[in-house]
Amino acid sequence: MTINAIATAAYIVASLLFVLSLAGLSKHETSRSGLTYGIVGMALALGATIALSIDDMSVLTDKWIPIGLLVGAIAIGALIGLWRARIVEMTGMPELIALLHSFVGIAAVLIGWNGAIAGFHGDGIDPGNVRTLTNVHEAEIAIGIFIGAVTFTGSIVANLKLSARMKSAPLMLPGKNFINIGALIAFAVLTVLYVTTDGHTGTKPWILLAAITVLALLLGWHLVASIGGGDMPVVVSMLNSYSGWAAAASGFLLGNDLLIVTGALVGSSGAYLSYIMCKAMNRSFISVIAGGFGIEAGPADDTDYGEHREIQADAVAELLSDAKSVVITPGYGMAVAQAQYPVADLTAKLRAKGVDVRFGIHPVAGRLPGHMNVLLAEAKLPYDIVMEMDEINDDFGDTDVVLVIGANDTVNPAAAEDPGSPIAGMPVLEVWNAKDVVVFKRSMAAGYAGVQNPLFFRDNTQMLFGDAKDRVEDIIAAL
Ligand code: TAP
Repeated sequence: MTINAIATAAYIVASLLFVLSLAGLSKHETSRSGLTYGIVGMALALGATIALSIDDMSVLTDKWIPIGLLVGAIAIGALIGLWRARIVEMTGMPELIALLHSFVGIAAVLIGWNGAIAGFHGDGIDPGNVRTLTNVHEAEIAIGIFIGAVTFTGSIVANLKLSARMKSAPLMLPGKNFINIGALIAFAVLTVLYVTTDGHTGTKPWILLAAITVLALLLGWHLVASIGGGDMPVVVSMLNSYSGWAAAASGFLLGNDLLIVTGALVGSSGAYLSYIMCKAMNRSFISVIAGGFGIEAGPADDTDYGEHREIQADAVAELLSDAKSVVITPGYGMAVAQAQYPVADLTAKLRAKGVDVRFGIHPVAGRLPGHMNVLLAEAKLPYDIVMEMDEINDDFGDTDVVLVIGANDTVNPAAAEDPGSPIAGMPVLEVWNAKDVVVFKRSMAAGYAGVQNPLFFRDNTQMLFGDAKDRVEDIIAAL
């Protein structure tokens, strides 16, 4: 069997493993096997691609230079990847993911330019013919470069916003929607010109391609800069989708079927995840992908909600001892405090006393999809007491105590009750319907969306201030 035949077989198996991986990752019970399928699929794909490249290069007289460069680049990339993945905090994951998407974007741009340069020199697929609109190869180059460049700068802005190195407020340029639509029209015109220009005469095709690249770089920057920090999770998932389409475009250009399949899987699953997240946050999907289309800056909330009540850890322990049913709603603060381990101990203690303890998980609690599920699984909490928001929302009325551990926006009643609130319409965990609510946080500061939370001032709410991990440990000690 030739290397080519083996690589094609490996690519088919890898594609199937990627499909199984996505299916596995959609539920926490099967997520470990999903990850394993993904790792095995990627190892197979990489192995086959490296073997193919080395086989291609083996006909060259000075073959050891390109082979050495290939192996060296893979080794350096793998070392940096391992190092970053080992040191990244769970809370820093979205910005790391955004950065990784920018690599896919720039790779697509480079592959597009490489394809174009090969074409200009007559050793590509298009040797010497005058181009026509049916010249698919040139269209693939322009589209691949466009999607790649939008993904590249868009992901860099997302990374800067998520790591607070750039203001998270949306950039409100006058006529921003016209800028975006104008850029898309300009891209269509430039692409038609590029595809129909004879690639072997003068500098015109180079100038057109450079114009497409610069236009896409600026559009990517503007699209994401125009979106506020609250919508960044959706943007990261959308950029994930764009990076998939950029990879698929590169797959067409390189004639690599696996890259086309994988790119399409990433592209469509990323788009679907963005859609689910938009629904969970009551955001318009179209508005977010169109760079904040129709979103205007709202007035600041200066409502006086009155005084909040404070509680101490030993009093919370008493409340819990008397309770029959307890729901814990964790949020970003639990991740920051790494409080999941004492929370698991507290849960075990209460369950041993016969208290019914369950968890209510909001779809965008924390800073990345599934963030809370990962933390709770890390602390070995049983899956069957971890409920989705829709499964638990009707039960809060029959709950004695809710412990809101480091959550804020996801339990904000303004979303349900105040149509003027910036997060109005976002489905939230209706914790205020419980008999008693205890909110764990360090201060009265607002959550991620920067919106005041009236829950903190309700008659049945008490605030337990301090680091969530320390306070949960205090409660365990008092119990
Ligand atoms: P947030 O609204 O972000 O609030 C977290 C709260 O945790 C803050 O009010 C903070 O208050 C508290 N906190 C921080 N560190 C703490 C510590 N060490 N101990 C105790 N409390 C601590 O959290 P949420 O309810 O999970 O909502 C998530 C928000 O992030 C949503 O707006 C969502 O749209 C957005 N977002 C989500 C994602 C995804 S996909 N999940 C990605 C990006 C953004 P103090 O500072 O007073 O302690």
